[in-house]
Amino acid sequence: MPAYAVIGGQWGDEGKGKIIDYLAGSVNAVVRYAGGNNAGHTVVNDKGTFQLHLIPSGICWPGVYGIIGNGVVVNPDVMMGELDMLSSRDIDISRVSISERAHVIMPYHIVQDRLEEEARGSSAIGTTGQGVGPAYVDKVGRMGIRVGDLLDGEDLAPKVERALAFKNALFTKIYCGECLSLDQVMSKCRDWAEMLRPYVQPTEQIVQDLLDQGKSLLLEGAQGTLLDIDHGSYPYVTSSSPSIGGACTGLGLNPQAIAGVLGVFKAYSTRVGSGPMPSELLGQGAEDLREKAHEYGTTTGRARRIGWFDAVAGRYSVLVNGFTGLVLTRLDILDGFPSVKICVGYQVDGKDIDRFPSNTNLLEECQPVYEEMPGWDEPTASATSRSQLPKNAVAYIKRIEELMRCRAQIISTGPRREETILLEPVIV
Ligand code: IMP
Repeated sequence: MPAYAVIGGQWGDEGKGKIIDYLAGSVNAVVRYAGGNNAGHTVVNDKGTFQLHLIPSGICWPGVYGIIGNGVVVNPDVMMGELDMLSSRDIDISRVSISERAHVIMPYHIVQDRLEEEARGSSAIGTTGQGVGPAYVDKVGRMGIRVGDLLDGEDLAPKVERALAFKNALFTKIYCGECLSLDQVMSKCRDWAEMLRPYVQPTEQIVQDLLDQGKSLLLEGAQGTLLDIDHGSYPYVTSSSPSIGGACTGLGLNPQAIAGVLGVFKAYSTRVGSGPMPSELLGQGAEDLREKAHEYGTTTGRARRIGWFDAVAGRYSVLVNGFTGLVLTRLDILDGFPSVKICVGYQVDGKDIDRFPSNTNLLEECQPVYEEMPGWDEPTASATSRSQLPKNAVAYIKRIEELMRCRAQIISTGPRREETILLEPVIV
Protein backbone atom coordinates (compact mmCIF):
# COMPACT_ATOMS: atom_id res chain seq x y z
CA MET A 1 0.00 0.00 0.00
CA PRO A 2 1.28 3.45 -0.77
CA ALA A 3 1.82 6.86 0.79
CA TYR A 4 -0.51 9.85 0.51
CA ALA A 5 0.75 13.37 1.16
CA VAL A 6 -1.34 16.08 2.83
CA ILE A 7 0.22 19.43 1.95
CA GLY A 8 -0.65 23.06 2.67
CA GLY A 9 -1.44 24.88 -0.56
CA GLN A 10 -1.28 28.42 0.88
CA TRP A 11 0.69 30.13 3.68
CA GLY A 12 0.08 27.43 6.30
CA ASP A 13 -2.79 27.14 8.79
CA GLU A 14 -5.05 25.59 6.15
CA GLY A 15 -6.47 23.04 8.58
CA LYS A 16 -4.15 20.15 7.73
CA GLY A 17 -4.31 18.82 11.31
CA LYS A 18 -8.04 18.20 11.08
CA ILE A 19 -7.75 16.58 7.65
CA ILE A 20 -4.91 14.31 8.75
CA ASP A 21 -6.87 13.28 11.84
CA TYR A 22 -9.90 12.59 9.61
CA LEU A 23 -7.92 10.43 7.16
CA ALA A 24 -5.60 8.76 9.66
CA GLY A 25 -8.18 6.15 10.65
CA SER A 26 -7.62 4.56 7.21
CA VAL A 27 -3.82 4.33 7.38
CA ASN A 28 -1.20 2.66 9.55
CA ALA A 29 1.15 5.58 10.14
CA VAL A 30 1.29 9.35 9.95
CA VAL A 31 4.73 10.69 9.16
CA ARG A 32 5.90 14.27 9.61
CA TYR A 33 8.63 15.32 7.18
CA ALA A 34 9.51 19.03 7.63
CA GLY A 35 9.36 22.07 9.89
CA GLY A 36 9.44 22.08 13.65
CA ASN A 37 7.32 23.43 16.46
CA ASN A 38 6.67 26.56 14.38
CA ALA A 39 3.69 24.51 13.16
CA GLY A 40 0.46 24.30 15.11
CA HIS A 41 -2.08 21.65 14.21
CA THR A 42 -5.47 21.65 15.92
CA VAL A 43 -7.31 18.35 16.11
CA VAL A 44 -10.85 18.02 17.48
CA ASN A 45 -12.16 14.47 17.88
CA ASP A 46 -14.04 12.22 20.29
CA LYS A 47 -11.19 12.57 22.81
CA GLY A 48 -11.32 16.38 22.87
CA THR A 49 -9.28 19.22 21.38
CA PHE A 50 -5.54 18.76 20.87
CA GLN A 51 -2.98 21.40 19.88
CA LEU A 52 -0.04 19.61 18.34
CA HIS A 53 3.21 21.18 17.17
CA LEU A 54 5.43 18.18 16.54
CA ILE A 55 3.70 14.88 17.13
CA PRO A 56 1.89 13.77 13.95
CA SER A 57 -1.82 14.56 14.02
CA GLY A 58 -2.98 10.95 13.51
CA ILE A 59 -1.75 9.85 16.93
CA CYS A 60 -5.25 9.91 18.46
CA TRP A 61 -6.29 6.85 16.41
CA PRO A 62 -5.54 3.55 18.15
CA GLY A 63 -2.82 1.58 16.40
CA VAL A 64 -1.64 4.42 14.13
CA TYR A 65 2.12 5.08 14.30
CA GLY A 66 3.36 8.66 14.60
CA ILE A 67 6.76 9.06 13.00
CA ILE A 68 8.93 12.21 12.99
CA GLY A 69 11.28 12.05 10.02
CA ASN A 70 14.80 13.32 9.41
CA GLY A 71 13.58 16.52 7.74
CA VAL A 72 12.01 17.83 10.95
CA VAL A 73 13.91 19.99 13.44
CA VAL A 74 13.06 19.08 17.00
CA ASN A 75 12.93 20.96 20.26
CA PRO A 76 13.05 17.98 22.66
CA ASP A 77 11.34 19.96 25.46
CA VAL A 78 8.38 20.63 23.19
CA MET A 79 8.25 17.03 22.02
CA MET A 80 8.33 15.64 25.56
CA GLY A 81 5.74 18.19 26.71
CA GLU A 82 3.43 17.03 23.93
CA LEU A 83 4.01 13.36 24.73
CA ASP A 84 3.23 14.01 28.41
CA MET A 85 0.04 15.87 27.47
CA LEU A 86 -1.07 13.02 25.15
CA SER A 87 -0.24 10.38 27.70
CA SER A 88 -2.18 12.21 30.43
CA ARG A 89 -5.18 12.09 28.09
CA ASP A 90 -4.90 8.33 27.56
CA ILE A 91 -3.37 8.44 24.10
CA ASP A 92 -0.89 5.62 23.55
CA ILE A 93 2.49 7.26 22.90
CA SER A 94 4.46 4.04 22.51
CA ARG A 95 3.77 4.29 18.76
CA VAL A 96 5.81 7.50 18.42
CA SER A 97 9.30 7.47 16.93
CA ILE A 98 11.81 10.09 15.83
CA SER A 99 14.60 9.88 13.31
CA GLU A 100 18.15 9.71 14.60
CA ARG A 101 18.96 12.01 11.66
CA ALA A 102 16.53 14.77 12.68
CA HIS A 103 18.31 17.97 13.77
CA VAL A 104 17.89 19.40 17.25
CA ILE A 105 16.79 22.98 17.92
CA MET A 106 19.48 23.93 20.42
CA PRO A 107 19.01 26.66 23.07
CA TYR A 108 21.30 28.96 21.05
CA HIS A 109 19.05 28.64 17.98
CA ILE A 110 16.17 30.21 19.88
CA VAL A 111 18.40 33.07 21.06
CA GLN A 112 19.72 33.52 17.51
CA ASP A 113 16.20 33.56 15.98
CA ARG A 114 15.19 36.43 18.28
CA LEU A 115 18.41 38.43 17.87
CA GLU A 116 18.24 38.13 14.08
CA GLU A 117 14.62 39.20 13.95
CA GLU A 118 15.39 42.26 16.10
CA ALA A 119 18.33 43.12 13.84
CA ARG A 120 16.13 42.95 10.73
CA GLY A 121 14.10 45.85 12.08
CA SER A 122 11.36 46.88 9.64
CA SER A 123 12.32 43.98 7.32
CA ALA A 124 11.60 41.39 10.02
CA ILE A 125 10.15 38.15 8.65
CA GLY A 126 7.85 37.69 11.62
CA THR A 127 9.26 34.25 12.47
CA THR A 128 7.62 32.22 15.19
CA GLY A 129 10.76 32.71 17.33
CA GLN A 130 11.17 28.98 17.94
CA GLY A 131 14.70 28.72 16.55
CA VAL A 132 13.58 26.80 13.48
CA GLY A 133 15.41 28.92 10.87
CA PRO A 134 18.78 28.92 12.68
CA ALA A 135 18.55 25.14 13.23
CA TYR A 136 18.12 24.59 9.48
CA VAL A 137 20.95 27.06 8.73
CA ASP A 138 23.29 24.99 10.92
CA LYS A 139 22.07 21.77 9.29
CA VAL A 140 23.04 23.08 5.85
CA GLY A 141 26.20 24.68 7.31
CA ARG A 142 27.18 21.22 8.62
CA MET A 143 27.40 22.25 12.23
CA GLY A 144 24.02 20.98 13.38
CA ILE A 145 23.48 18.59 16.28
CA ARG A 146 21.35 15.60 15.31
CA VAL A 147 19.11 13.55 17.58
CA GLY A 148 21.54 10.64 17.14
CA ASP A 149 24.41 12.88 18.31
CA LEU A 150 22.62 13.50 21.59
CA LEU A 151 22.81 9.79 22.34
CA ASP A 152 26.50 9.62 21.41
CA GLY A 153 27.83 10.40 24.87
CA GLU A 154 31.43 11.57 24.70
CA ASP A 155 31.35 12.45 21.00
CA LEU A 156 28.71 15.09 21.64
CA ALA A 157 30.66 17.56 23.80
CA PRO A 158 33.24 18.61 21.17
CA LYS A 159 30.49 19.17 18.60
CA VAL A 160 28.47 21.36 20.95
CA GLU A 161 31.58 23.18 22.10
CA ARG A 162 32.53 24.03 18.51
CA ALA A 163 29.06 25.24 17.62
CA LEU A 164 28.65 27.23 20.83
CA ALA A 165 32.00 28.99 20.43
CA PHE A 166 30.83 30.20 17.04
CA LYS A 167 27.39 31.22 18.35
CA ASN A 168 28.79 33.05 21.36
CA ALA A 169 31.10 35.03 19.06
CA LEU A 170 28.09 35.89 16.91
CA PHE A 171 25.94 36.89 19.88
CA THR A 172 28.57 39.05 21.56
CA LYS A 173 30.50 40.52 18.65
CA ILE A 174 27.72 41.11 16.13
CA TYR A 175 24.59 41.43 18.25
CA CYS A 176 26.13 42.73 21.49
CA GLY A 177 24.20 40.04 23.33
CA GLU A 178 25.19 37.57 26.03
CA CYS A 179 27.08 34.28 25.95
CA LEU A 180 25.43 30.94 26.70
CA SER A 181 27.27 28.63 29.07
CA LEU A 182 28.61 25.34 27.68
CA ASP A 183 27.83 23.58 30.96
CA GLN A 184 24.19 24.59 30.82
CA VAL A 185 23.80 23.58 27.18
CA MET A 186 25.52 20.22 27.80
CA SER A 187 23.38 19.54 30.85
CA LYS A 188 20.28 20.17 28.73
CA CYS A 189 21.64 17.78 26.08
CA ARG A 190 22.20 15.03 28.66
CA ASP A 191 18.62 15.39 29.95
CA TRP A 192 17.29 15.33 26.39
CA ALA A 193 19.29 12.22 25.52
CA GLU A 194 17.64 10.28 28.33
CA MET A 195 14.17 11.58 27.52
CA LEU A 196 14.39 10.92 23.78
CA ARG A 197 16.28 7.60 23.85
CA PRO A 198 13.19 5.34 23.84
CA TYR A 199 11.80 7.06 20.75
CA VAL A 200 14.90 7.33 18.55
CA GLN A 201 14.82 5.05 15.49
CA PRO A 202 16.12 4.74 11.92
CA THR A 203 12.79 6.03 10.67
CA GLU A 204 13.59 5.74 6.94
CA GLN A 205 13.85 1.98 7.50
CA ILE A 206 10.61 1.88 9.51
CA VAL A 207 8.80 3.76 6.73
CA GLN A 208 10.17 1.39 4.09
CA ASP A 209 9.30 -1.69 6.19
CA LEU A 210 5.73 -0.46 6.61
CA LEU A 211 5.42 0.04 2.85
CA ASP A 212 6.94 -3.40 2.17
CA GLN A 213 4.38 -4.94 4.54
CA GLY A 214 1.60 -3.42 2.45
CA LYS A 215 0.71 -0.74 5.01
CA SER A 216 -0.36 2.76 4.03
CA LEU A 217 1.04 6.07 5.22
CA LEU A 218 -0.03 9.68 5.43
CA LEU A 219 2.75 12.21 4.91
CA GLU A 220 1.94 15.14 7.15
CA GLY A 221 2.89 18.52 5.72
CA ALA A 222 3.49 21.48 8.00
CA GLN A 223 3.36 25.17 6.98
CA GLY A 224 2.39 25.67 3.33
CA THR A 225 3.80 25.76 -0.20
CA LEU A 226 3.91 29.58 -0.32
CA LEU A 227 6.24 29.48 2.71
CA ASP A 228 8.56 26.94 1.05
CA ILE A 229 12.23 27.98 1.14
CA ASP A 230 12.54 27.37 -2.62
CA HIS A 231 9.05 27.97 -3.92
CA GLY A 232 7.58 30.49 -1.50
CA SER A 233 7.63 34.29 -1.36
CA TYR A 234 11.33 34.44 -0.50
CA PRO A 235 12.70 35.78 1.86
CA TYR A 236 9.36 35.81 3.70
CA VAL A 237 9.34 32.05 4.03
CA THR A 238 10.12 29.32 6.49
CA SER A 239 13.45 27.47 6.26
CA SER A 240 12.26 24.07 5.12
CA SER A 241 10.42 22.49 2.18
CA PRO A 242 6.74 22.03 3.04
CA SER A 243 5.97 21.07 -0.58
CA ILE A 244 6.10 17.54 -2.01
CA GLY A 245 9.85 17.45 -2.63
CA GLY A 246 10.40 17.92 1.10
CA ALA A 247 8.41 14.75 1.78
CA CYS A 248 10.95 12.61 -0.10
CA THR A 249 14.08 14.21 1.34
CA GLY A 250 12.55 14.68 4.77
CA LEU A 251 11.80 10.98 5.16
CA GLY A 252 14.17 9.16 2.86
CA LEU A 253 11.09 8.15 0.88
CA ASN A 254 11.14 6.76 -2.63
CA PRO A 255 8.86 9.05 -4.72
CA GLN A 256 7.29 6.04 -6.41
CA ALA A 257 5.65 5.18 -3.09
CA ILE A 258 3.50 8.33 -3.29
CA ALA A 259 0.09 7.55 -4.74
CA GLY A 260 -1.73 10.78 -3.98
CA VAL A 261 -0.87 14.38 -3.15
CA LEU A 262 -3.69 16.23 -1.46
CA GLY A 263 -3.54 20.04 -1.46
CA VAL A 264 -5.26 21.64 1.52
CA PHE A 265 -6.65 25.16 0.99
CA LYS A 266 -8.81 27.37 3.14
CA ALA A 267 -11.91 28.68 1.35
CA TYR A 268 -10.27 32.11 1.80
CA SER A 269 -6.62 33.05 2.54
CA THR A 270 -4.64 33.78 5.68
CA ARG A 271 -1.03 34.58 6.39
CA VAL A 272 0.93 35.19 9.59
CA GLY A 273 4.12 37.17 9.56
CA SER A 274 5.39 39.60 6.94
CA GLY A 275 5.53 39.30 3.17
CA PRO A 276 3.34 39.92 0.15
CA MET A 277 -0.25 38.71 0.06
CA PRO A 278 -1.96 40.06 -3.08
CA SER A 279 -5.56 39.28 -2.08
CA GLU A 280 -5.21 40.68 1.46
CA LEU A 281 -8.29 42.36 2.91
CA LEU A 282 -7.83 45.31 5.23
CA GLY A 283 -10.21 47.17 7.50
CA GLN A 284 -13.50 46.07 8.99
CA GLY A 285 -14.09 43.26 6.46
CA ALA A 286 -10.88 41.54 7.54
CA GLU A 287 -11.61 42.21 11.22
CA ASP A 288 -15.09 40.65 10.97
CA LEU A 289 -13.82 37.54 9.22
CA ARG A 290 -10.87 37.19 11.64
CA GLU A 291 -13.19 37.30 14.64
CA LYS A 292 -15.77 34.96 13.12
CA ALA A 293 -13.09 32.44 12.17
CA HIS A 294 -10.92 33.13 15.22
CA GLU A 295 -7.88 33.53 12.96
CA TYR A 296 -5.13 33.71 15.55
CA GLY A 297 -1.93 31.64 15.37
CA THR A 298 -1.89 28.31 17.25
CA THR A 299 1.83 28.71 17.99
CA THR A 300 2.19 32.44 18.64
CA GLY A 301 -1.37 33.73 19.16
CA ARG A 302 -0.70 36.42 16.54
CA ALA A 303 -3.62 37.78 14.52
CA ARG A 304 -3.56 36.24 11.04
CA ARG A 305 -3.84 38.44 7.98
CA ILE A 306 -6.99 37.72 5.99
CA GLY A 307 -7.72 37.67 2.26
CA TRP A 308 -9.99 36.27 -0.43
CA PHE A 309 -9.14 32.95 -2.08
CA ASP A 310 -6.15 33.52 -4.38
CA ALA A 311 -6.44 31.21 -7.39
CA VAL A 312 -3.23 32.54 -9.01
CA ALA A 313 -1.16 31.50 -5.99
CA GLY A 314 -3.26 28.33 -5.73
CA ARG A 315 -2.58 27.30 -9.32
CA TYR A 316 1.13 27.78 -8.70
CA SER A 317 0.85 25.51 -5.68
CA VAL A 318 -0.84 22.86 -7.84
CA LEU A 319 2.03 23.16 -10.31
CA VAL A 320 4.76 22.80 -7.67
CA ASN A 321 3.12 19.84 -5.93
CA GLY A 322 1.19 18.05 -8.67
CA PHE A 323 -1.86 17.87 -6.43
CA THR A 324 -4.07 14.91 -7.29
CA GLY A 325 -6.96 16.40 -5.32
CA LEU A 326 -7.98 19.45 -3.33
CA VAL A 327 -9.32 19.82 0.18
CA LEU A 328 -11.27 22.99 0.85
CA THR A 329 -11.48 23.83 4.55
CA ARG A 330 -13.46 26.38 6.58
CA LEU A 331 -16.15 26.77 3.94
CA ASP A 332 -18.61 27.45 6.78
CA ILE A 333 -16.80 30.71 7.61
CA LEU A 334 -18.12 32.19 4.37
CA ASP A 335 -21.76 31.38 5.30
CA GLY A 336 -23.88 34.53 5.34
CA PHE A 337 -21.64 36.70 3.14
CA PRO A 338 -23.77 38.53 0.52
CA SER A 339 -21.06 37.81 -2.05
CA VAL A 340 -17.68 36.07 -2.16
CA LYS A 341 -14.64 36.94 -4.26
CA ILE A 342 -11.90 34.90 -5.88
CA CYS A 343 -8.65 36.46 -7.03
CA VAL A 344 -8.31 35.23 -10.64
CA GLY A 345 -5.38 37.37 -11.80
CA TYR A 346 -2.87 40.02 -10.83
CA GLN A 347 -2.14 43.38 -12.40
CA VAL A 348 0.80 45.74 -12.04
CA ASP A 349 0.38 49.21 -13.55
CA GLY A 350 -2.60 47.92 -15.54
CA LYS A 351 -0.57 45.04 -17.04
CA ASP A 352 -1.73 41.46 -16.47
CA ILE A 353 0.56 39.14 -14.50
CA ASP A 354 -0.81 35.67 -15.06
CA ARG A 355 1.45 33.64 -12.78
CA PHE A 356 2.78 33.84 -9.23
CA PRO A 357 5.98 35.90 -9.59
CA SER A 358 9.26 34.85 -8.00
CA ASN A 359 10.24 38.49 -7.52
CA THR A 360 8.99 39.52 -4.10
CA ASN A 361 8.96 43.24 -4.94
CA LEU A 362 6.81 42.52 -7.98
CA LEU A 363 4.51 40.30 -5.93
CA GLU A 364 4.20 43.12 -3.42
CA GLU A 365 2.96 45.43 -6.17
CA CYS A 366 0.45 42.97 -7.62
CA GLN A 367 -3.13 44.19 -7.48
CA PRO A 368 -5.76 41.47 -7.34
CA VAL A 369 -8.29 41.02 -10.15
CA TYR A 370 -11.43 39.62 -8.56
CA GLU A 371 -14.33 37.58 -9.78
CA GLU A 372 -17.37 38.14 -7.53
CA MET A 373 -19.92 35.41 -6.97
CA PRO A 374 -23.20 35.41 -5.04
CA GLY A 375 -22.87 34.24 -1.43
CA TRP A 376 -25.21 31.91 0.45
CA ASP A 377 -27.46 32.40 3.46
CA GLU A 378 -28.18 28.77 4.21
CA PRO A 379 -25.50 27.23 6.46
CA THR A 380 -22.81 24.91 5.18
CA ALA A 381 -21.61 24.55 8.79
CA SER A 382 -21.56 20.89 9.89
CA ALA A 383 -22.74 19.61 6.48
CA THR A 384 -21.69 16.02 5.88
CA SER A 385 -22.82 15.51 2.27
CA ARG A 386 -22.71 17.47 -0.97
CA SER A 387 -26.52 17.48 -1.12
CA GLN A 388 -26.64 19.58 2.07
CA LEU A 389 -24.66 22.40 0.49
CA PRO A 390 -26.47 25.48 -0.84
CA LYS A 391 -26.31 25.84 -4.61
CA ASN A 392 -24.14 28.99 -4.47
CA ALA A 393 -21.60 27.23 -2.25
CA VAL A 394 -21.45 24.37 -4.76
CA ALA A 395 -20.90 26.92 -7.55
CA TYR A 396 -18.07 28.52 -5.52
CA ILE A 397 -16.33 25.15 -5.09
CA LYS A 398 -16.80 24.36 -8.78
CA ARG A 399 -15.26 27.67 -9.83
CA ILE A 400 -12.22 27.05 -7.60
CA GLU A 401 -11.84 23.58 -9.15
CA GLU A 402 -11.95 25.11 -12.65
CA LEU A 403 -9.44 27.81 -11.83
CA MET A 404 -7.07 25.39 -10.11
CA ARG A 405 -7.59 22.66 -12.72
CA CYS A 406 -7.86 20.12 -9.93
CA ARG A 407 -10.84 18.29 -8.41
CA ALA A 408 -12.00 18.81 -4.84
CA GLN A 409 -12.01 15.54 -2.88
CA ILE A 410 -12.87 16.78 0.61
CA ILE A 411 -14.79 19.78 1.96
CA SER A 412 -14.44 20.66 5.62
CA THR A 413 -17.44 22.37 7.21
CA GLY A 414 -16.32 22.62 10.84
CA PRO A 415 -13.48 21.72 13.20
CA ARG A 416 -14.84 18.34 14.31
CA ARG A 417 -13.83 15.12 12.56
CA GLU A 418 -17.38 14.40 11.42
CA GLU A 419 -17.93 17.88 9.95
CA THR A 420 -16.50 16.70 6.67
CA ILE A 421 -17.79 15.94 3.18
CA LEU A 422 -15.90 13.22 1.36
CA LEU A 423 -16.58 13.92 -2.32
CA GLU A 424 -14.24 11.24 -3.63
CA PRO A 425 -12.29 8.46 -1.91
CA VAL A 426 -8.78 9.60 -1.07
CA ILE A 427 -7.13 6.52 0.42
CA VAL A 428 -7.76 3.69 -2.00
P1 IMP B 1 9.77 30.45 11.06
O1 IMP B 1 9.33 29.20 10.37
O2 IMP B 1 9.44 30.48 12.53
O3 IMP B 1 11.21 30.78 10.77
O4 IMP B 1 8.93 31.68 10.44
C1 IMP B 1 9.07 32.07 9.07
C2 IMP B 1 7.72 32.50 8.49
O5 IMP B 1 6.88 31.36 8.36
C3 IMP B 1 6.95 33.50 9.35
O6 IMP B 1 6.21 34.35 8.50
C4 IMP B 1 6.00 32.61 10.13
O7 IMP B 1 4.85 33.31 10.57
C5 IMP B 1 5.66 31.58 9.08
N1 IMP B 1 5.25 30.29 9.64
C6 IMP B 1 6.04 29.34 10.19
N2 IMP B 1 5.31 28.28 10.58
C7 IMP B 1 4.04 28.56 10.26
C8 IMP B 1 2.82 27.83 10.39
O8 IMP B 1 2.77 26.68 10.86
N3 IMP B 1 1.70 28.45 9.94
C9 IMP B 1 1.73 29.69 9.39
N4 IMP B 1 2.84 30.40 9.23
C10 IMP B 1 3.99 29.85 9.67
